Amino acid sequence: MSNNLLKGKKGIIFGALDEKSIAWKVAERAKEEGAKFTLTNTLPSIRFGKIGELAKDCDTIVIPANATVVEDLENLVEKSMDFLGGKVDFILHSIGMSLNVRKKRVYNDLDYNYLGETLDISAISFHKLLQVANKMDAINEWGSVIALSYIAAQRTLFGYNDMADAKALLESIARSFGYIYGRDKKIRVNTISQSPTPTTAGSGIKDLVGLMDFTGRMSPLGNATAVECADYCLMMFSDFTRKVTMQNLFHDGGFSAMGMSSSAMHQYEKGIVSKDC
Ligand SMILES: NC(=O)c1ccc[n+]([C@@H]2O[C@H](COP(=O)([O-])OP(=O)(O)OC[C@H]3O[C@@H](n4cnc5c(N)ncnc54)[C@H](O)[C@@H]3O)[C@@H](O)[C@H]2O)c1
Repeated sequence: MSNNLLKGKKGIIFGALDEKSIAWKVAERAKEEGAKFTLTNTLPSIRFGKIGELAKDCDTIVIPANATVVEDLENLVEKSMDFLGGKVDFILHSIGMSLNVRKKRVYNDLDYNYLGETLDISAISFHKLLQVANKMDAINEWGSVIALSYIAAQRTLFGYNDMADAKALLESIARSFGYIYGRDKKIRVNTISQSPTPTTAGSGIKDLVGLMDFTGRMSPLGNATAVECADYCLMMFSDFTRKVTMQNLFHDGGFSAMGMSSSAMHQYEKGIVSKDC
């Protein structure tokens, strides 16, 4: 169902790999809601993923960019403005990757070169994007920029590894740049902290199935899906949220405010052998 929420708006969407990707759902919903946008991802992801199919469905183009390379971002922003016929109104940063997670290096045995890459890809790329867009004056007044985060930025979740540090930095960059962008150009910068979601990046989270069962039990509204996350992104891109900035917005069915739920306690008690505490 379309409400023309983004009618006339233009944007750039990072991070659609396949139909499970949160960015893929954002692109589909943004198109339904009347937006025009470009898509981007790394060259290998474009070759091995399915973003070309998405571009076709969304009547748009894919512009390759490694989000850690400033020249790639400059080229992306320039080509996007050419294709869209002017400045953009929204940008989605939906990027995350940790080589320590991939190579099964645990948090107390990190490879520091990998850590550098984790921070560069998953967090510093957001600063690079904001700085390039600012210098190129690429975002319209009252525009909106969103990056996707996870609660491990603020609470320790076993196994999320160095991605927790990357997300903490990502959320801090949103605040620091949000001040500058708000003050100078009336542009919003926020992060959305999403429930665990079964995507390619999500499958890097340790014991994702068990974790999703736990967070689902703990959340009064249940885990938020990728499509629901897309709808929240759209709302943040719309004119209905013009004074929301520098925030980390939890989109997690209430998980972040919970300590224990009846459903989780019920399940936990099944595993307790002796009740003598
Ligand atoms: N899936 C979850 O459980 C979950 C929960 C909270 C937040 N998030 C965040 O949501 C975002 C999207 O992840 P997803 O779950 O849709 O998984 P995904 O694997 O579909 O998307 C991750 C994307 O990052 C891209 N990417 C990696 N390195 C890049 C680089 N150098 N330059 C440009 N792009 C690069 C990948 O190609 C991929 O498209 C990530 O920031 C992730 O951390 C995911």
